[in-house]
Amino acid sequence: MTISITTVLGARPQFIKAATVSRALRAFGIRESLVHTGQHYDRSMSEVFFEELGIPAPDRHLGVGSGTHAAQTGAMLQAVEQVLLEDRPDVVLVYGDTNSTLAGALAASKIGIPVAHVEAGLRSLNRAMPEELNRVLTDHLATWLLCPTDLAVRNLDREGIGSDGDALGRRVDQVGDVMFDATRVFGELSTLRSTVGTALDLEDGGYVLATVHRAENTDDPRRLRRILEALARIAERRTVVWPMHPRTARAIEGAVDVPGFDRVRRIDPVGYLDMLWLEGHADVVLTDSGGVQKEAYFAGVPCVTLRDETEWVELIDTGWNRLAPPDGSCDIVQIAESAAPGRSDFVGYGDGAASERIAAILGEGPPPRRSETIST
Ligand code: UD1
Ligand code: UDP
Repeated sequence: MTISITTVLGARPQFIKAATVSRALRAFGIRESLVHTGQHYDRSMSEVFFEELGIPAPDRHLGVGSGTHAAQTGAMLQAVEQVLLEDRPDVVLVYGDTNSTLAGALAASKIGIPVAHVEAGLRSLNRAMPEELNRVLTDHLATWLLCPTDLAVRNLDREGIGSDGDALGRRVDQVGDVMFDATRVFGELSTLRSTVGTALDLEDGGYVLATVHRAENTDDPRRLRRILEALARIAERRTVVWPMHPRTARAIEGAVDVPGFDRVRRIDPVGYLDMLWLEGHADVVLTDSGGVQKEAYFAGVPCVTLRDETEWVELIDTGWNRLAPPDGSCDIVQIAESAAPGRSDFVGYGDGAASERIAAILGEGPPPRRSETIST
């Protein structure tokens, strides 16, 4: 029997994750339909990834766009439900922790379609983060919980998901990290095709790469200002390159009075091939992105995370990543200046075959529910 999967996605990191997973699903003979919610819609936040990573064009585009959490998630929920009622796939696949993730998972599970969650089990334990709410809720709705790390499996176990007593028969697998797959698959293409280094006249290893987009940083003027001030101080002595998320570009419009901030080289968001190049040639990465923290490590570049905590705690434990919360409690510049490579024996994110493992698991069909097993 051919399994049919509808993938619901809509934000930049989800396109990158889908690039390798979609390939693997199709190679396993699974029929996949892609539903783009429209959460991200600028060319540099969406189309560019479909083009350069060869992701199949979305079968449906819901065009939901931006809004408050309830408005955006609610609009997606309604539109995704409509598509699922028409298409009736065997499985709905969602990635990560965005509003598109939650909308896809909730719409599907309410009409009885089982949900597969890639990047299940991550926890920041900070319920003020919209992403934490999205991932906890999605994990509790999902049937297949496809975890990137051992810690993610343990986090789910602590919440009673997939443990021995899981009466719902949910299946938890540690498959590895699909973002590691993506860097393996597209790394060489990035080396061949990326022109960003020449375009920006960057010397190998001679700059600091920054990205910032978390609501907790962009929507809090004091935290945002501390980040801008730190980057301005670093830019007194070193080149700082900052591909800027549109949310952040909007937030800093009123912050041009930060002394020295004009020295920071702000550029539009770049495509994935350029981003891999920028990460791979940087001396240090400063970020609040989940994906960029890991990609810095994959590239062997130390990272400073501009947050109070991170889901990717393995990188803190092994010294590849250091937290620098922009809450006034630390000197971000000093932490960035002293950032150094971490332990070389850490191999925590799989072997680059997470996508194939996901396809193989989903290709087996749904696990039996515990109650069905008992009654037969
Ligand atoms: C979303 C995710 C976040 C993820 C990030 C990846 C949620 C709650 N947040 O955050 O987990 O890390 O995507 O990048 O789902 N905008 C544009 N053009 C676009 C997209 C956004 O101008 O193509 C601007 C709009 O002003 C919008 C704002 O960015 O209001 C925020 O966009 P949104 O998708 O709501 O959240 P992100 O901050 O992108
Ligand atoms: N990324 C990109 N261009 C950019 C910034 C980021 O291609 O200008 C990629 C980055 O390499 C990573 C992903 O986007 O693969 C991370 O997405 P983002 O930081 O938006 O979200 P998060 O991972 O925090 O959810």
